[in-house]
Amino acid sequence: MLAERFDVEEGGDLRRQAAGAAALVADPTVPVDGELLDAAGDTLRVVANFAVGYDNIDVEACRARGVVVTNTPDVLTNANAALAVALMLAAARRLGEAERLVRAGRWTGWEPGQLLGRELSGTVVGILGLGRIGRRVAELLRGFDVSLLGTSRSPHPDVEQRLAVDRVSFDELVGRSDFVTLHVPLSEETRHLIDDDALARFKPGAILVNTARGGLIDSAALVSALRAGRLAGAGLDVYENEPKVPQELAELENVVLAPHIGSATATTRDAMASLVAENVIAVLEGHDPVTPVWR
Ligand code: DGY
Repeated sequence: MLAERFDVEEGGDLRRQAAGAAALVADPTVPVDGELLDAAGDTLRVVANFAVGYDNIDVEACRARGVVVTNTPDVLTNANAALAVALMLAAARRLGEAERLVRAGRWTGWEPGQLLGRELSGTVVGILGLGRIGRRVAELLRGFDVSLLGTSRSPHPDVEQRLAVDRVSFDELVGRSDFVTLHVPLSEETRHLIDDDALARFKPGAILVNTARGGLIDSAALVSALRAGRLAGAGLDVYENEPKVPQELAELENVVLAPHIGSATATTRDAMASLVAENVIAVLEGHDPVTPVWR
């Protein structure tokens, strides 16, 4: 879509290529900071992020330069929420351990007490952040017969009623939930939202799931909580310093690890790519962006 209308350069030395560009397409691995914006110069009109999260972009620096920022909401909601549910089930049913056993040729046959996991049904699931993805998690969990708790900045009684979610405080949510799943953006306010102090308030034996951003969790605190048995397990798709995954986490049997694949379905990635292109085209052709991060 872009190549039909504009000169497109891919990969290579970003700072050099940015010079004189009218648009930058970034993904979560590309920090778009003041330096890159300066390298692009006055020609730059839009930064289109290939992700819904835009913590890789210095939004204030863009705003100050009159550069529009866009992201890819909605199109990945279902894929990300589905992965959160998959990680909940995988951690609860010990799928990582089970798969390693089979692949290593160590499985000696059916045993009544082997790899006993936990049911999701009948538990309390806490959804930290009742935005688009958090709400979709609530919908997907409908068939599992769980009780749902959620947090959000402001009440949305109609949504809470429709999804049968009780809106509670952070402390109440972590204290009562058997599963806690994170669906808030990463910002200075939410960095290390899950630290030692927060983990100490979790219900003992809870399972933590993160398909949002790694920086929401203090990984050292998470490792301690898992080692101490304070948490029974975790399902993680994102990490503080990607692609590095702390060795201590990789060594823990009760942690299921995925490589940031929340939006990685062919349908979703195609839809994200189209939305990125639509945003760039709209801005460069003088129209309003489709999904700007601010209006
Ligand atoms: C997002 O959209 O923020 C995802 O992390 C990319 O898969």
